[in-house]
Amino acid sequence: MASTVLVGTQWGDEGKGKITDLIASKYDYVVRYQGGNNAGHTVVHGNTKLALHLMPSGVMYEHAVPVIGNGVVIDPGALVKEMALLEAEGVSCKNLKISCNAHIIMPYHKDLDGADEKVLGKNSIGTTKRGIGPCYQDKAARKGIRVQDLMDEKIFRLKVETALAQKNPILEKIYGIHTYTVDEIMEEYLPYATILKPYMAETTQLLNEALRSGKNILFEGAQATMLDIDHGTYPYVTSSSCGSGGAAIGTGVGPMAIEKVIGIMKAYTTRVGGGPFPTEQLFPENGGEGEMAQVGEKLCAVGHEYGVTTGRKRRCGWLDAVIGKYAVDVNGLTDIALTKLDVLSEFDTIKVCVAYEHEGKRYDYLPMQQSVLFHAKPVYEELPGWKGVDITGCRTFEELPENAQNYIRFVEDFVGAPITMISVAPERDCTIFRGWDR
Ligand code: IMP
Repeated sequence: MASTVLVGTQWGDEGKGKITDLIASKYDYVVRYQGGNNAGHTVVHGNTKLALHLMPSGVMYEHAVPVIGNGVVIDPGALVKEMALLEAEGVSCKNLKISCNAHIIMPYHKDLDGADEKVLGKNSIGTTKRGIGPCYQDKAARKGIRVQDLMDEKIFRLKVETALAQKNPILEKIYGIHTYTVDEIMEEYLPYATILKPYMAETTQLLNEALRSGKNILFEGAQATMLDIDHGTYPYVTSSSCGSGGAAIGTGVGPMAIEKVIGIMKAYTTRVGGGPFPTEQLFPENGGEGEMAQVGEKLCAVGHEYGVTTGRKRRCGWLDAVIGKYAVDVNGLTDIALTKLDVLSEFDTIKVCVAYEHEGKRYDYLPMQQSVLFHAKPVYEELPGWKGVDITGCRTFEELPENAQNYIRFVEDFVGAPITMISVAPERDCTIFRGWDR
């Protein structure tokens, strides 16, 4: 199995969890390269459903080494809690390796995340308030505290003192919220340091040596292309490089080590938080009416579109193939895994956005200006559906109804990468592999 990046092609929640779960067992190392516990996906362990937020999916397989790469931001309290929950369910975390260069989310990062959102008011990003953005801000400003700083109490204290000298006045004078003492933070974080120390490692060396000895790596992207700090719908993005390029940066492995890039694409689109979403079918509570509201509500209900981390109802809409094409370019996708195709079995006809229109101009690619995307009207191709046909039992492409096959061919031709996996129900075996070397 070639070293592979798995990446979301839309705004997250494409069903990466299932696809990761399906293929992770084939890899020797499963590595998270960006984001933090803003991510969330559910894995099934025996009869129990477990939510992974920070832990790489490889933890579910005894032979695999789960690695948290340097590009991840770690809330140590959240990680310790997640490890304890996994261990309580019989999932061993003993193989975990944590990069010493990963940055640590501090309590004030979470406070600042919430306070910033409040100040933005109706322009808020809709963050998960896990402190992700403020932690990456400190990293870029070269003021961050890293995992390696936890290894030495004296250094950690010094870093916390320096950080608080800057953060406390901001917390107090700008946002009018509580401040921290060094002792308070030491008291909370030192026990985390003790628990996490055995897992800390030089992961760049570890992964490169693994590659040299013929092992393979699965790079597990969190969030998605359109939430990427550079390539997404800025500023309505997360603060990391979610795209496939982030895998090299966030682990210290050269880009040539990546042989396969699988983009996870949901057969329709969802988004949580604010920001442009041209194919959105507004819910009635957001001003949607008639067919639009019906489609939005149906996608949400049938697709169970509620956040794993926040429980929020996700915004829903038709597949945006312009974004799909962009994701193929930005990530260099070699394969697409199309998920939740069964949700579309509810519709007479199925719309796919193939261009946008704004002020009389047609856009066949993502427009240069975000303001255009905000106001763009989608141009749809309307394809015949397969309403009422239960496709959840299909295990080959040929077993799918003809209109479903045509829909898949249409999408892959348009975006320019082959759809080699098709998910037709949540269960692991409800997947069609199409010309895919497993
Ligand atoms: P942050 O990552 O908490 O800073 O949030 C920034 C944006 O990314 C918000 O719109 C979030 O809703 C979105 N976001 C962050 N993590 C995820 C995810 O795992 N799935 C979908 N959206 C996410």
